[in-house]
Amino acid sequence: MRHIIEKDMKNLSSVVKMNSNIKQLTLENLEDAPLTYGSIILNKERFIQVLVEINTLQDLSSLKNRIIILKDIITNHKNDHQSILNIDTNGDTISLRRDVLTSELNQVIDSQTLERAKYYIKRLEGGIQKVKTSKINDINLLKWKEYDNIITDSLWVIDKRDTSGAHLGWYWGNFIPQIPHQMMLRYTKKGDWVVDTFVGSGTTLIECKRLGRNGIGIELNPNVAQKAKELTEKEQNKYNVISEVVIGDSRRIDIKQILDKYGIKQVQLLIMHPPYHDIIKFSKDEKDLSCAKSTEEFLKMFGDVVNNATPYLEKGRYFALVIGDKYSKGVWIPLGFYCMEEILKRGYLLKSIIVKNFGETRGKRNQKELWRYRALVGGFYVFKHEYIMLFKKKYLS
Ligand SMILES: C[S@@+](CC[C@H](N)C(=O)[O-])C[C@H]1O[C@@H](n2cnc3c(N)ncnc32)[C@H](O)[C@@H]1O
Repeated sequence: MRHIIEKDMKNLSSVVKMNSNIKQLTLENLEDAPLTYGSIILNKERFIQVLVEINTLQDLSSLKNRIIILKDIITNHKNDHQSILNIDTNGDTISLRRDVLTSELNQVIDSQTLERAKYYIKRLEGGIQKVKTSKINDINLLKWKEYDNIITDSLWVIDKRDTSGAHLGWYWGNFIPQIPHQMMLRYTKKGDWVVDTFVGSGTTLIECKRLGRNGIGIELNPNVAQKAKELTEKEQNKYNVISEVVIGDSRRIDIKQILDKYGIKQVQLLIMHPPYHDIIKFSKDEKDLSCAKSTEEFLKMFGDVVNNATPYLEKGRYFALVIGDKYSKGVWIPLGFYCMEEILKRGYLLKSIIVKNFGETRGKRNQKELWRYRALVGGFYVFKHEYIMLFKKKYLS
C-alpha cells in the first residue's frame, strides 16, 4: 500500500539545490518571525536611551508627542535626528516586527493617564532589553506578540502541507511538517533532543534540522528508514545538530544504547505518529502496529512502545501523539481516545487535545462520492479530522 512517487524523488536534488540558494532575510531567528513579516532594524542602545529619556517626562501630552515622533521615524524613516535607525555606529542592533512595534507605540499614544503611558514604555524597554523564556522553549515571553506563527488554538485547519526543502510528502501516511514544527517551537529549546518512535519518511528529523534540535527516529521498515535517512541528510544542517534514523521495533529497541552514544540520558520531546491501526497497512511484518489483529492487540503494542520510550523522556517534558480514529463494521472506533487512555495510565498529564483537519488521502479523493453515499446510507460521518494530543510527563512518576 505504500507509494513512492518516483518523479518527486527525481526532483529532490533540484528542489534541495534551489532551497539552499534562498537567502536568509531576517537577522532574528527564523522561527521567531516568518520571512514575510516586515522587520525594522534599530540601534538598540540608542533606542533604549530614547525610551528611558521619554519616560522621565512628567507631562502626558509631551510624552505622547515624543512617541508620535518616534513612530514617525519608525514608519516613515524620516527625520531620524535621534539616530535610532543609525546602525553603522558601534553597538548592538535589534530587529523588531514593525507592526508589533507600531502597535506598542499606539498603546502609549492612546493611554489615558501618564502612569499607564509610562507603564507601556517601560514594558517596551524591558522587551527590548531582556529575554524571558520558560524552561521548555525559546519563546521570549517579553516579545510574545511577535510569535503569531505559533498556534495556540485547539482547532487546526491547515490547507497546505509545507513542501519546502527536503519535505516531499511522498510517503502515504506521513504527517505534515507543520505538526513537528509547531511541537518543537512550543516544547523544545535549540539543542534539545527529540525522539520519534514511528519516524516513517523522516518528517520530524528534517524539521529538527531546520530548527536546530537533535533528532532520533526509529522505524521498523528498513526501506522506509533508508529513504528517511537520505532525505534527512539532504536537509542543510545549519545548526550542526545530530540526526539519526535507527531501524528497529520501537516496542523493544534499546533506547538507552542509542542515547549512550551521544552521552545523554534523556530527551526533551517525544513524538509518536503510529499507524491508525490497519487504515494503512504499512507492511506484512507482525511487529508492525498496522498488522495488529484487533484493536486490543493494537493498543497492547502501542502501550509497549510508550513503556519502552517513557523512561527516556525528561520529567516535566512533553509527549505529542498524532492519531486518528477508524471506522469498522458499522462502528466508529475511537482509537485516539483509546491511545490517550493508554498514555494516561503511564504517568502523564493530559495537556491538550488538538483537532486537526485531515487532508484527503489519495485513495479517499478518488472515492469521495462513494464515501458520501456510504455515510448517508450508514448513518455516520466521513472522517475529516485527526488528533494531536499533548501529554506532560509527571514529576512524580
Ligand atoms: C503513520 S506512519 C509515520 C509517518 C511519519 N510521521 C512521517 O511523516 O513519515 C507510521 C510508521 O510506523 C512504522 N511502524 C509500525 N510499527 C512499528 C514499530 N513496531 N516500530 C517502529 N516503527 C513502526 C511504519 O512502518 C510507519 O512508517
